[in-house]
Amino acid sequence: MSTIILGIESSCDDTSAAVICDGVLLSNVIASQAVHEAYGGVVPELASRAHQQNILPVVSEAVKRAGIDKSELNAIAFTRGPGLLGSLLVGTSFAKGLAASLNVPMVEINHLQAHVLAHFIRQSADDTTMPPSFPFLCLLVSGGNSQIIKVNSYYDMEIVGQTIDDAAGEAFDKCAKVMGLGYPGGPVVNRLGNIGNPTAFTFSKPHVPGYDYSFSGLKTSFLYTLRDRLEKDPTFIETHREDLCASLQRTVVDILMDKLRKASKDLKINEVAVAGGVSANTALRDAFHEHAVKYGWRIHIPPFAFTTDNAAMVAITGYFKYLHQDFCPMDATPFSRTVI
Ligand code: KG4
Repeated sequence: MSTIILGIESSCDDTSAAVICDGVLLSNVIASQAVHEAYGGVVPELASRAHQQNILPVVSEAVKRAGIDKSELNAIAFTRGPGLLGSLLVGTSFAKGLAASLNVPMVEINHLQAHVLAHFIRQSADDTTMPPSFPFLCLLVSGGNSQIIKVNSYYDMEIVGQTIDDAAGEAFDKCAKVMGLGYPGGPVVNRLGNIGNPTAFTFSKPHVPGYDYSFSGLKTSFLYTLRDRLEKDPTFIETHREDLCASLQRTVVDILMDKLRKASKDLKINEVAVAGGVSANTALRDAFHEHAVKYGWRIHIPPFAFTTDNAAMVAITGYFKYLHQDFCPMDATPFSRTVI
């Protein structure tokens, strides 16, 4: 008997649904919300309205593309948090209605755990990619989180270090915003940074003990550089955009890798993965490959499709929790913030 799970993701500004059968992905549908572009960031109220418009067609399409009938679903997995409450409410309510109508259990999913377990998605029945073996370290880097997680099993994760202020993605987004590069800034900084000189500017790096991160000092140092240089040359940003992006990107990657290297050395774990939106960054990916060669790391880098928010990661986490018979009651409510 196969186990077929529907995953629903609605924590921020992507409405997504995916179907997984015995760990193999059958479909993954994502509707992104362009409505926020004009505002330079996600507007929560607009996000929940867009989720309401998108959720039914997205789920129907995921079931259709999977080539199954919804009556074959064994459980409905949904992102319970962390994220925007109004957005989460749309996915949670839809999951409740669908689970009740099909008389199947619901599985609540922590969005951060789902990013980590995305490494276990098999993209087809003959996908031979080796998933990480336990225990492994996962660098989880997104717009809201920067964490080093020790993953002991599908069900047991410990936060080894995390940001004490801004997340890595926020550093990219905020610095991009002041350069007039739009939102989200990460992909643009990445593209421009790859053609600039990464040593053109030096920005300050944090001195935080242990394995924790901090990115607010980098942001301030970036802003001061712009302010000082713009006073003398009003065209400074225009003429130095690529070098600014390259130097910012290098500094973020250095900060991330310094702590990850320390954690790997101290905990004696060479199996190292990366996850979350910022894991799409090509300089960060290059740094992982360099560490694999230099320090003998066995690295795990997700396909680009699984770096940003998607329901495939929710469905795979739901699959493991289903095997563990870890269901949630019908009165489960979303939460906006949490730790793993
Ligand atoms: O995980 P994610 O899609 O959303 C949440 O935060 O939940 O991550 C979004 C973040 C944004 O800050 C975005 O700028 C960043 O990921 N990002 C990147 C790249 N692609 C997305 N940052 C750097 N380089 C990229 N290529």
